[in-house]
Amino acid sequence: MTDSRKPDLYKVSILGKESIHCGFHLIPYIAHTVLTTLPSSTYVLVTDTRVAKFHLSAFEAAFNAELGTIAVEKRPRFLSHLIPPGETSKSREGKAEIEDFLLANACTRDTLILALGGGVVGDLVGFVAATFMRGVRFVQIPTTLLAMVDSSVGGKTAIDTPHGKNLVGAFWQPEYIFIDAAFLETLPIREFSNGMAEVVKTAAIWDENEFATLESRAVDITSAIQIESAKNSHAGRVVSTRSESQKLLLSVIVGSISVKAHIVTIDERETGLRNLVNFGHTIGHAIEAILTPAVLHGECVSIGMMFEAEVARQMGVLSQVAVGRLSRCLKAYNLPIAVTDSRIASLPAARQLTVDHLLDVMKVDKKNSGTVKKIVILSRIGATYEQKATAVSDQRIRNVLSEAITVIPAVPRNTPVKMATPGSKSISNRALVLAALGQGTCRLKNLLHSDDTQVMMQALIDLQGATFSWEDNGDTLVVQGGGGSLAVPPAGKEIYLQNAGTAARFLTTVCTLVKSDKQGAATVITGNARMKQRPCGPLVDALRASGNPIEYRENAGSLPLSISATSAGMHGGHIRLAASISSQYVSSILLCAPYASSPVVLELVGGQVISQPYIDMTIGVMKSFGIMVTRDVDAAGKHLDVYRIPTGPYRNPSEFTIESDASSATYPLAIAAITGTTCTITGIGSASLQGDAGFAKGVLEAMGCKVVQTDNETTVTGPPSGQLRAIGFVDMEPMTDAFLTASVLAAVATQPPYAGRALADAPVNTTRILGIANQRVKECNRIKAIIDELAKFGVHTKELDDGLEIYGKPIGELNQGASINCYDDHRVAMAFSVLGTVVAGTVLEEKRCVAKTWPNWWDDLENKIGISTKGVELHTSAGPSVDRYHEHGASVFLTGMRGAGKTFIGTLAAEALGWKFTDADAVFESKHGMLVSEFVRDKGWEAFRESEKAVLDELLLTRDKKHIVSLGGGIVETPSAREALKNYAKSRGPVVHVLREIDEIVQYLGEETSRPAYGEAIEDVFRRRQPWYAEVSSHEFISHTGTLQQSIQVSKKSTSDGHADDIANGRTVHTILPTSSGVQAEVKRYFEHITGLRPNLAPNVQPGKRSYFLSLTFPDLTPALPLMDLLTIGVDALEVRADLLSMSGFPVTTPSVPPRAYVATQVTAIRQRTGLPIVFTLRTTSQGGMFPDGAQTEAMELFDLALRLGCEYIDLETSWPEERIRELHSRKGYSQVIASWHDWSGRMKWLGSEVSQKYKLAAELGDIVKIVGTAGDIGDNIDLLLFVRSLGKTPRKPFLAINMGEQGKMSRILNSTFSPVTHPLLPSRAAPGQLSFAEIQEALHLVGLLPKQQFYLFGTPISHSMSPTIHNTAFATLGLPHHYDLLETESVDDKVKAAIAASDFGGASITIPHKLAVIPLLDGLSEEAQTIGAVNTIVPRKRADGTRELWGDNTDWAAIHHMVASNLKGVSPASAKGLVIGAGGTSRAALYALHRAGIGAIYLYNRTASSAKTVVASFPATYNIHVLDNLDVLPLGPPTVIISTIPASATTSDSHTHNALFLPASIFAAPQGVVIDMAYKPSATPLLKLARAVNASWVVVTGLSVLLEQGYRQFEIWTGRRAPRSIVEKEVLAKYSL
Ligand SMILES: NC(=O)c1ccc[n+]([C@@H]2O[C@H](COP(=O)([O-])OP(=O)(O)OC[C@H]3O[C@@H](n4cnc5c(N)ncnc54)[C@H](O)[C@@H]3O)[C@@H](O)[C@H]2O)c1
Repeated sequence: MTDSRKPDLYKVSILGKESIHCGFHLIPYIAHTVLTTLPSSTYVLVTDTRVAKFHLSAFEAAFNAELGTIAVEKRPRFLSHLIPPGETSKSREGKAEIEDFLLANACTRDTLILALGGGVVGDLVGFVAATFMRGVRFVQIPTTLLAMVDSSVGGKTAIDTPHGKNLVGAFWQPEYIFIDAAFLETLPIREFSNGMAEVVKTAAIWDENEFATLESRAVDITSAIQIESAKNSHAGRVVSTRSESQKLLLSVIVGSISVKAHIVTIDERETGLRNLVNFGHTIGHAIEAILTPAVLHGECVSIGMMFEAEVARQMGVLSQVAVGRLSRCLKAYNLPIAVTDSRIASLPAARQLTVDHLLDVMKVDKKNSGTVKKIVILSRIGATYEQKATAVSDQRIRNVLSEAITVIPAVPRNTPVKMATPGSKSISNRALVLAALGQGTCRLKNLLHSDDTQVMMQALIDLQGATFSWEDNGDTLVVQGGGGSLAVPPAGKEIYLQNAGTAARFLTTVCTLVKSDKQGAATVITGNARMKQRPCGPLVDALRASGNPIEYRENAGSLPLSISATSAGMHGGHIRLAASISSQYVSSILLCAPYASSPVVLELVGGQVISQPYIDMTIGVMKSFGIMVTRDVDAAGKHLDVYRIPTGPYRNPSEFTIESDASSATYPLAIAAITGTTCTITGIGSASLQGDAGFAKGVLEAMGCKVVQTDNETTVTGPPSGQLRAIGFVDMEPMTDAFLTASVLAAVATQPPYAGRALADAPVNTTRILGIANQRVKECNRIKAIIDELAKFGVHTKELDDGLEIYGKPIGELNQGASINCYDDHRVAMAFSVLGTVVAGTVLEEKRCVAKTWPNWWDDLENKIGISTKGVELHTSAGPSVDRYHEHGASVFLTGMRGAGKTFIGTLAAEALGWKFTDADAVFESKHGMLVSEFVRDKGWEAFRESEKAVLDELLLTRDKKHIVSLGGGIVETPSAREALKNYAKSRGPVVHVLREIDEIVQYLGEETSRPAYGEAIEDVFRRRQPWYAEVSSHEFISHTGTLQQSIQVSKKSTSDGHADDIANGRTVHTILPTSSGVQAEVKRYFEHITGLRPNLAPNVQPGKRSYFLSLTFPDLTPALPLMDLLTIGVDALEVRADLLSMSGFPVTTPSVPPRAYVATQVTAIRQRTGLPIVFTLRTTSQGGMFPDGAQTEAMELFDLALRLGCEYIDLETSWPEERIRELHSRKGYSQVIASWHDWSGRMKWLGSEVSQKYKLAAELGDIVKIVGTAGDIGDNIDLLLFVRSLGKTPRKPFLAINMGEQGKMSRILNSTFSPVTHPLLPSRAAPGQLSFAEIQEALHLVGLLPKQQFYLFGTPISHSMSPTIHNTAFATLGLPHHYDLLETESVDDKVKAAIAASDFGGASITIPHKLAVIPLLDGLSEEAQTIGAVNTIVPRKRADGTRELWGDNTDWAAIHHMVASNLKGVSPASAKGLVIGAGGTSRAALYALHRAGIGAIYLYNRTASSAKTVVASFPATYNIHVLDNLDVLPLGPPTVIISTIPASATTSDSHTHNALFLPASIFAAPQGVVIDMAYKPSATPLLKLARAVNASWVVVTGLSVLLEQGYRQFEIWTGRRAPRSIVEKEVLAKYSL
């Protein structure tokens, strides 16, 4: 190496060796040093492909150059090896792959490995080195900042396993660590910030000076990596070419490394001190475990540091100043500091960041001692509380992590309290601006450390207006004023002001001071969404009018603003300003006016000036900085609203102490007032500049408190708790911010006002607050917020133009447990925490919003006032699958055109759910004592709409749980009603739009006259309301109650892949005539699903089971409806491919968007035929489907439609924009999202990192993960299996993993979650290689995964039994290899015992006479079988330990119950009577079924009454069974349900037949009912014949239907699959009639 290339280095020693060499452009130096000092026969450089792209060739060149100087025979080898970038390489496979490379290249023990890359390469290659040939030497060449300052230093090496990160590894020290900071120039900026988190961390625990550098020089440090020094002849290699920022960067890196090296040297194996480097990691790691890979390690640690600093602050160990500095410093490097950061909060996985989940993850931490968690506690910047991590209780961590907090009501422990409040926000902001604009240095004391001041400081830094540094451990801010000189921030940089109103207003004028000669130079200020709504128009108008060019970038009147820089700066002169909205406009101009081009005369116009005290405050502070403002007076000496400001610089006082905040002081004082205790606030008294200092005298004294105020101290003593007085009238214009505090006190102020204050026109408990209209445009609409949140306590209020009235209530009558929405407004949170000190269970939902003015309010409440608080988790359950947007059991509101079927559907729904039905019209009519039509006639439409809305409000309040409420069709005409419904649908409960074909409605309404006429064509009304219905509803239900007919013309088609086209031959007319039971079943399914009462999800989607869906590929599904039973054999769900639907009925050939209405009708049509869950899928052309790629909006509308229609699953490709997926996810309710990824390229490798990443993403976004590859050869299926296996057995989301293509069939057979299947009757396969359900079963059998099982019928006589036909037909239809045989025995003998003991025993049916005798052979019985005392089904089950048990069940009762429940119409079961004939095993099942159906009383008749009595005795008395002696005498009246359980031959309706039971016609005396004969031969038994003859209104159920029903249920228990009912029935009927 030539001397000219010799770099200037810093060397740091670690473990006694100077092995860390730091500098710039070190590659030649590295090659030289390694080759000369670490001799070896082979040098292997391992790096990742991304790093290789930038830097490998330079290494190769340098090594080759050095090697070229060595004689050939002695020349060592230089090999390089590349691995894929990313964490997934850090795996066992990744390690093996490198080892194989080394072995294949015959590397020996003297090999030297160079690890070039980030932490991944370093950790992985280090671990390879540690174990290869029992350990070889290696060198670290870190290329990321994180690797430089952290992972490369210390010798920790590791790989990840599916169980967690870094779980397998070794301590293995490198020979050298070469830190070449020039590598950072190619590093993405986010990765740089990632590393800075570690740098900040190290300084925070160890070195305050270093921290101060990081804090103040962020811009310079970052700029060092933004130059391309390589092009500049290796700038920085030697000191002479090193720029200032390069020097700074290197010193920061070296500083950080030195600390780590020092710590490692003292404590290499991490037994104590080394723990300190884990600051931020205890919580940070837990966050990382949940958010990786979307969020980087350093980003998680950054948030972790903030949480852990808060823990320290809560312990009373760390000051808020330090917490504020830490957060500002991290922010300066663009690191997130809270989980609410939009980069974090927008991730779907962020929902899993619940407190419980985080604490759970934290359980696994090497630092824990036993179950006690340990956290590194900072005591100040640069030092820790202990020289190791400190044990912290779970409760404390929970308090800090929780978003919400509850106040525990109590008398303050520390009464009398004496405290100071944080510095005034208003004065802090004014002083900051003035000190920055002033000349010289000013030390600001008691500055408020809050979001607001932080935003202001950052903005002043961005404008290069001043520099800031800290003294006294951060208690003093040293401002080096810029004398009014400001610069336009770098191009593209906007000044972001969050929701800080003061900063926004002040900076608007400050930015006009920026001077520039450059054309177009401008400063942009912007804020968050709320800030963009807050007004600044009058200020901008005034500035513009006096010649300052300012543009609105978005909405007129609000931020963002673009403020042009001119060569003259701010134009002065006469400025007219409307000051009735905010005094901040006035202050903004006043503060900057001294630097205007000419002296400013500021005239306030436009009526009443708001908040004069704030204007006076500004003038007061300006005076302290040397500028005297004068205010004009009129002849009479009265003040005018005209101010004169001289020009000239501010002269900074050397020190300026900021007064404590008077608004903040109102909270501790109010706590004294409400709890009847004493509190003294220092630093605020009658001499205060702040208007809110008048709160104690003006408000608290009027409420009955004792107030003592000196110049700078205020003491308040409250009356005994519960004795506060209402104020009557109070004008709070001088202290508007304090009105919230006054309001919460007024809520419990019940005593009458002092004499003279009482209001003539309001009750004595009234407090009327006026003069606060400006509070509507603060952080939130505070007047509304107070009204809404007080309502949660049951406190009544009234909004007024300029304020509000509050009616006090005794504390004991306030609702407990109110959950307060704080609207991100500090004052709302703090005010309601005052109320929380007396009302139990009050929860403040966003505790962190206090950061704006009092970040440690909760800590001060606890530590200084002595009121305890507790963290509260708002959402107790984790994970997207439980992310409900509606409350459980929330009522359903039905809306839609009159005549759409709301009442009909609503009644059915209420019946199905067991909820109450309410007709809003009926409520209206009973309330007003007249019909709706009469009301309209008498009082007109307008009055009707108003009263109708009032009824809606009442219903939303009083019937919001477990009701189905049908609303009047015109309710949507009223805007406020639409708003109310929309809000309900958005978060509380479903609003269902019931639709019906318009023609039908017209026809229906023509027939109906009881309601007012529309006065316009119904079609017009329909068209007008249609969008409103859509807008207010969350769901829609298409009612087919009428005679909807669809004629579909389908022409003959042939398909290319040989699928038959039997369904639609030629011109066919299909008529869908929904059956009433179909409608009933669909209403039940739909409403049970959308309310979450019984979500209609596929039960087989669970571990250990196999599930399938049928991909429907018809362009029009209606022709397939008659075949639905056949098509759906075996499957668990149906996939509707919306992109393949076409109204023409022809297959889609060019990408197109099917009309929404068509898709809706298609889905509804399927629902008429099957209750199977629907998987709604839509694929674009690039996703392998037929939907146009560009039609994203239309696609999302269709997905939204699917959710509205209650489709149970939607399949979303993860390639859709994440926010779209999230949007749908957030409103999916009880439906589930299948997050899928299809690789059509065939390039995806199951064992590559791409799949893991896709998997992770899909697992974050969906409830079910679907990854589909393309198999090139059979081995791809093996890889797929290995990937699935690598995920381990730990609970995870259901995973559908298959390969497309012929070669992929094997994966379709083996996949267990929702395997997509086709059917021979479908026009085409949805994807290449798809198999049918039956084909898969056959294949599973062949490969040994579905062994043949043997089933039996035990009993006698059974030779004519239909059961073998039922089951064998079903097995064959499903492609199952099983068989069902008769085993006829007189008793439960050895043959039976041998059959059930055999390993291939699949199950058995039991019939007469063994239903009781078989019980002793079984291991357990279902609850039903136990109660009935008889078994008709045996099923072998697997226990948790893998052994087998025999389980007894009874499906007889279930079949009977089904027949009764589905046929008993119009009769309330409780008042109905049942009659059971016979007293054998079956009669027991019948009795049980009747009881379960809710039948109030049951007769039991048996020829031998004693047997009947024995049966009765075995049932609980609640069954209410009466033994009859005689069928003629029915003491409780005639039965409505009759079930005969005796052979048909034993009954007769002929009174002359003697050897049989005579059935009198009188048993059918009830007007309607259900009769079931369990005997199934002959089909028309005497009982059924009699029923038909006597009363045609009775429903007759044959024994055969019950037999089939119980058989289907048996089959379903055995196989877990639905029986192919229609096929079995056909087969049985054919055999039966033989
Ligand atoms: N051993 C330890 O003590 C220790 C400490 C902290 C972190 N770690 C480990 O470090 C790993 C994270 O390291 P990381 O953050 O460096 O990630 P990384 O190694 O994955 O690198 C980040 C990305 O930047 C790319 N990259 C690296 N250098 C580059 C450069 N100069 N120019 C352009 N691109 C570049 C990489 O290819 C990669 O894509 C984790 O596995 C973590 O567990 C280990």
